[in-house]
Amino acid sequence: MTSNIEKILSPTLIVILGATGDLAQRKLLPSLLDLHERSLLPPAFRIIGFAKSVHTDESYREFVKETIDKKDHGHSAEAVEKFLACISYQSGDFTVPESYGLLSELLITAENSFGQCSNKLFYLAIPPTYYDTVFHNLANSGLTIPCSNETGWTRILVEKPFGKDIDTARKLDETLGLLFKEEQIFRIDHYLGKETLQNILMFRFSNLIFEPLWNNKYIEKVHIKLHETLGLEGRGAFYDGIGALRDVGQNHILQMLAAVAMENPETLSADRARTKRADVLSSLRPIAGENLTKQVVRGQYEGFLEEPSVNKESTTETYFKIETFIDNERWKGVPFVLEGGKGLTSKEASITIYFRETEKCLCLPETEQHHQNTLTFTMQPNEGISVKFWVKKSGFDTDLEEADLSFTYPKASVIKIPDAYERILFDSIAGNQMLFTSTDEVSAAWNFITPILSSWENTPLLKYKKGETPQ
Ligand code: BG6
Repeated sequence: MTSNIEKILSPTLIVILGATGDLAQRKLLPSLLDLHERSLLPPAFRIIGFAKSVHTDESYREFVKETIDKKDHGHSAEAVEKFLACISYQSGDFTVPESYGLLSELLITAENSFGQCSNKLFYLAIPPTYYDTVFHNLANSGLTIPCSNETGWTRILVEKPFGKDIDTARKLDETLGLLFKEEQIFRIDHYLGKETLQNILMFRFSNLIFEPLWNNKYIEKVHIKLHETLGLEGRGAFYDGIGALRDVGQNHILQMLAAVAMENPETLSADRARTKRADVLSSLRPIAGENLTKQVVRGQYEGFLEEPSVNKESTTETYFKIETFIDNERWKGVPFVLEGGKGLTSKEASITIYFRETEKCLCLPETEQHHQNTLTFTMQPNEGISVKFWVKKSGFDTDLEEADLSFTYPKASVIKIPDAYERILFDSIAGNQMLFTSTDEVSAAWNFITPILSSWENTPLLKYKKGETPQ
């Protein structure tokens, strides 16, 4: 079997469309620097920044250096210089077909310097409203035609949100399907690249002690949270009209649900994992009609309307909480609570499994306490897994107290857990689609979310104080 490292050996060009934007600055460039420093990029590789802003190679490298230096990246000045030397820039409007001619010239120059045809990865770090235009421009430019069947693959990385609802997502997928092959398309949900999310499958299916309990007989409830304390941080133009449910619900939270609720894929093949994730997502019970007000809460933090680029009368939600069910044998009757948003009390991304109370508790009869075990997977702030259980309180009484067994990753100073974007970039070069969503997953997620969005205006909008999670 070819190792992941062997899969990244051939010359590769990474083109970042939107190379001066927020995503490129906050995530892609720092992640590429980390990968470069760890020798986890192809030995012959080049990053080509492509955006409207006017830059020379030199001034873009300066821009990248300033961007990177905003973070405490922990790399030496020499490492940063070596990384910057691998970067070129082409200014151009990605909505205009002619710009791709200039890009093509730069790619040819880079390929000539490698002395052979290279793989090409096109990362669309651009607003989703341009996807359709850019898909066509890329395809028409001929840049996405691989050199041959054996060498010089070409791939397209598409960020979420993938569509605004089921119809727009389908349309986008149809366009992608017409222009490219499925093995060229990498739909990103960076939560799939998080170490703990990947670990859920290993944890569930490599240990005997939990999987037999992983069903409605033993599990009472599952609570999935993606809470953030911050507000929009200058992303008002993107967020207003999108809202929390599309921003983190349709994708990150549903992928967390899929990991915890899917059936065993039995192999580590991308196809099997993607199929099992899609299966469970398509078993989500749709919420509509009068159930909406019973099962769904939507909220907006006070002060949202004063955020820059937000419409003063906006009804965009910054918070949602949904109680839903999965219609299959394993999960019949178990509520899954999905909760996410911004401006909340604490930063936390986690999945908590609440087990049912034991029938014959060996505890003091008069205690009213619910003796429940919980198992929590935490993705933020400190990645890890913990189990709460009950033990005898030491001493002369026979009372119980809660104890905790937990697993955390070694300190970053010892072994650094790959950032989700590092993993995503690495896997896209290695050609492993396991951590990327398939058409079926995206459709199943939108099929569940779209009816809720369609009735959003009839769901009361709760106002909450920034910094206080609605109760
Ligand atoms: C992004 C959303 O996809 O995920 C952001 O657009 C959100 O609004 C972010 O803040 C959360 O990701 P993470 O990795 O910081 O938990």
